[in-house]
Amino acid sequence: MVIDVRIALFGFIGLCYVGLPLLEAFGKAGFHVSGFDIDRQKIDSLQRGVSYIGRVPSSWVKETLNAGRLEVTDDFRRLRKMNAIIICVPTPLSKEREPDLSYVTNTATEIRRYLDRGQLVVLESTTYPGTTEEVVKPILEDSGLESGKDFFLAFSPEREDPGNPKFHTVMIPKLVGGTDPVSGELAARLYQAAIERVILLSHAKIAEASKILENIYRAVNIALVNELKVLFDRMGIDIWEVISAASTKPFGFQAFYPGPGLGGHCIPIDPFYLTWKARAFDMTTRFIELAGEINTQMPDYVVQRTSEALNDRKKALRGSRGLIVGVAYKPNVDDVRESPSFKIMQLLEERGARLRFYDPFVPKLPSMRHYSVSAEPGALDSKTLEESDFVIIVTHHDGIDWDFVVEHAPLVIDTRNATQGVRQGREKIVRA
Ligand SMILES: NC(=O)c1ccc[n+]([C@@H]2O[C@H](COP(=O)([O-])OP(=O)(O)OC[C@H]3O[C@@H](n4cnc5c(N)ncnc54)[C@H](O)[C@@H]3O)[C@@H](O)[C@H]2O)c1
Repeated sequence: MVIDVRIALFGFIGLCYVGLPLLEAFGKAGFHVSGFDIDRQKIDSLQRGVSYIGRVPSSWVKETLNAGRLEVTDDFRRLRKMNAIIICVPTPLSKEREPDLSYVTNTATEIRRYLDRGQLVVLESTTYPGTTEEVVKPILEDSGLESGKDFFLAFSPEREDPGNPKFHTVMIPKLVGGTDPVSGELAARLYQAAIERVILLSHAKIAEASKILENIYRAVNIALVNELKVLFDRMGIDIWEVISAASTKPFGFQAFYPGPGLGGHCIPIDPFYLTWKARAFDMTTRFIELAGEINTQMPDYVVQRTSEALNDRKKALRGSRGLIVGVAYKPNVDDVRESPSFKIMQLLEERGARLRFYDPFVPKLPSMRHYSVSAEPGALDSKTLEESDFVIIVTHHDGIDWDFVVEHAPLVIDTRNATQGVRQGREKIVRA
């Protein structure tokens, strides 16, 4: 397969937070790129030259379409023409909190129909070690073609950090592992054509396990500071000052910060892929379970602190008016997946609070499968703040004037240390 000259055709399946920026990276490296998705709205939007992912500008989509170097389609027959096919579809948990690999298996089944000799298939979706070899490979080999000989198969985890302007796809080192040495080598050469640094690993399962380790590491360390937050609060110690102090150590310490609970597609979900797989090896992943337990308690803790703070002001949660600042799961993105905001709003409403919410990235609450919340959108103006009995800062988006919030709100529950720099009215701030 020719990769170094810019005639190879790359197909990306799943055009969202992961697939679209990756397609753009290869397009910018000079390759002809094809995007595939089953979501007709996304296809229509991209075909009109309109991007729905903040970091991929519509102007690039338009220019590349007009130059004839970008194709966007839901016609999977076009897969046959691709030299390399990169899978970026979701890997959620089922209702029973077990891996739901149906998106991966559906995609592999679709690829199998058009699989051709010499093609390289790479899975990017986060999953447990062994998926590429044990789940994807047998489906593709059902075509009668043999992996490592007739076609090539690898895993390369996506390490995107949405909302982080410091790291673009091409700058994030890329781990690559094949299900056999030739596949690994080919996949590494593919990514070298577009990504600044590529690390070839001995096998696909090392690449799968590395990605899971990265996410477990975050989940566990966030749980640790969340637990210490509760303890230190009882001890009258400011956790944020403690973390800042510990961070002055030039080695052996990395800062993690407490918050209102985990959110996003990755950290609340991916570790449990390994928990499930571990059962097949008679192991329980106790760190993962414990971290999950502590982190999922955080919305309850925020609500408890809010209730106590109101009580101190001779007010009840029932009948109170609250404003939730931030619905997205992290700052400066519009992604609400698994956001703790929903759990916090639901708990408050169940206890009789009437809520409004403000998020410059989320003007309207999307309907959520697991939550039913009736909060109305509100403005972040003096009238709304003064009418509220409490304000909870769930997401610390840039550009919000926290001095203004504290000046006008009677009580501010701060889960993110967003009000760190506020000098006036600190008696109104409660950390949670
Ligand atoms: N979002 C992140 O920041 C991030 C970071 C690292 C890794 N990941 C991992 O990358 C993978 C994708 O994440 P995402 O956030 O882009 O997911 P997403 O749910 O936002 O998007 C996936 C896209 O795949 C499409 N799709 C679903 N099934 C399909 C099929 N059978 N054929 C074609 N398209 C299909 C969907 O329509 C959607 O556009 C997941 O495994 C995730 O864990 C995500």
